[in-house]
Amino acid sequence: MNIKSLPEITRLVQDELEIFNDYFKKSMKSKVSIVDLVTRYILRQKGKKIRPILVLLASKLAGNVNERSFRGATLVELLHTATLVHDDVVDHAEQRRGFKSINAVFKNKVAVLMGDYLLARGLLLAVDGNDFDFLRVVTGTVKRMSEGELLQINKTRKLDNDEETYFKIISDKTASLISTCCEIGARAATDDENKINAMRDYGENLGIAFQIRDDILDYVGSSKIFGKPLGGDIKEKKLTLPLIYALKNSSDGEAKSILSAIKNGGKKLNVDRVIEFVKTHKGISYAENVSNEYALKAINNLSVFENSEAKAGLESLVRFVVERKN
Ligand code: IPE
Ligand code: IPE
Ligand code: MG
Ligand code: MG
Repeated sequence: MNIKSLPEITRLVQDELEIFNDYFKKSMKSKVSIVDLVTRYILRQKGKKIRPILVLLASKLAGNVNERSFRGATLVELLHTATLVHDDVVDHAEQRRGFKSINAVFKNKVAVLMGDYLLARGLLLAVDGNDFDFLRVVTGTVKRMSEGELLQINKTRKLDNDEETYFKIISDKTASLISTCCEIGARAATDDENKINAMRDYGENLGIAFQIRDDILDYVGSSKIFGKPLGGDIKEKKLTLPLIYALKNSSDGEAKSILSAIKNGGKKLNVDRVIEFVKTHKGISYAENVSNEYALKAINNLSVFENSEAKAGLESLVRFVVERKN
């Protein structure tokens, strides 16, 4: 397979993405000046746009990109933006996409309400376009995402995460939306439930690989490229796959000491010590292997489709996701 880079994948839907960008900008417009102020701040930051790219490629693969694909792409990016704005409040994050987070600049109150606003605008787009099939899928997704985030909070409080719960958390908080992007993109272009299901499964597996990679980058990334500081999960007491594995594969004494360091946290917490611990116990390479397994599953989900540029793009996107550095 000839693997494409992200810019090459993006180029497959370049014209469509430009139309999407227009839709996206217009979808946030408000007469209320503070809303517009925050909106302009958001629009200046460049996300990877993975989710709209997925919607567009899924439409291409299942048929053609059309009006509904654009509304779907806008809807998922609005929802994604809303969850990031909320996520940074929940995670006390000061940085996002290399900029100060909304909560850091405008404070929590504004971030919470702005997240609600973006979510509402997304849902409204589907209502106004009579895309009730999208609405059904997306409201289920929002429910899963909230449940995933709440389960995660519960686990950080108890500091007792295990692999099974970790997978439940990441499929709900991240894979659900990525899967929805693929499903909506397919639905915009076809009624063939076989194709729609294949795209949904592809997205779910891709989404799991995506979040595992995100959790790895919290340990080994470069905060400059990643656009958010490293070690954030440790400070937030989030036990993600690399750490869960390392804890399970170290002596009871060592695990206990690491856990108590994380639990007591604060300024005394030595993040480097935890990172070292995870590396020594092969937590990173274990997580990489698992992420690769899900990547393979995602590629296999595409086998119901004939070869095409769109298919090659989606295959390459899988590689990008597990190798990405931002
Ligand atoms: C970040 O998603 C949130 C996670 C699910 C880990 P992205 O990495 O796709 O964020 P942007 O849009 O490119 O900033
Ligand atoms: C991202 O989750 C937001 C959602 C998936 C809802 P994380 O908190 O794990 O991701 P980052 O690292 O802040 O982007
Ligand atoms: Mg979070
Ligand atoms: Mg976060």
